[in-house]
Amino acid sequence: MDIHRFEKGWLVASLVLIVFFIATVAYVSAVTGIDMVDDSGGDIDVDNVNQHDNFSDPGVEHVGENEYDAYVIAQQFIFRPGSEPFGAIRIPANSTVNFHVTSQDVVHGFQIVGTNVNTMVVPGQISEITVEFNEADEYGILCNEYCGSGHADMGGSIEVVP
Ligand code: CUA
Repeated sequence: MDIHRFEKGWLVASLVLIVFFIATVAYVSAVTGIDMVDDSGGDIDVDNVNQHDNFSDPGVEHVGENEYDAYVIAQQFIFRPGSEPFGAIRIPANSTVNFHVTSQDVVHGFQIVGTNVNTMVVPGQISEITVEFNEADEYGILCNEYCGSGHADMGGSIEVVP
């Protein structure tokens, strides 16, 4: 059975397009240094987030002079910590903070309003982002991925204290 000439043409064209799209993503990733989620943060067992060394008691840890690690769990429909009843994430001014964010249910977003921090939070993966907070201020945290009925209310805050 022969494949119709036009059908062959469309098949080839669609293959060329697929290769082109993949090449574009690879090129943008290489040139701009934009990393896919999971490039640096690594994996996590989604069923055992609460037993994980760093996520069993998520929060802010002092790891060096003016440097902090912040572990945050995004879940329907709060950030832990960041949202009530856990309270805001508190960071001293003039510090560098390495955020490690993961989810134990569905895909969420982690955006720090007013900064360029905006990442997906995927179950089973840890998203890492480093931020410098120089001045005392308060920042909102938003979820940018639709995650269920409470998505619109999913928010939190970061208090950068003097
Ligand atoms: Cu979490 Cu939308």
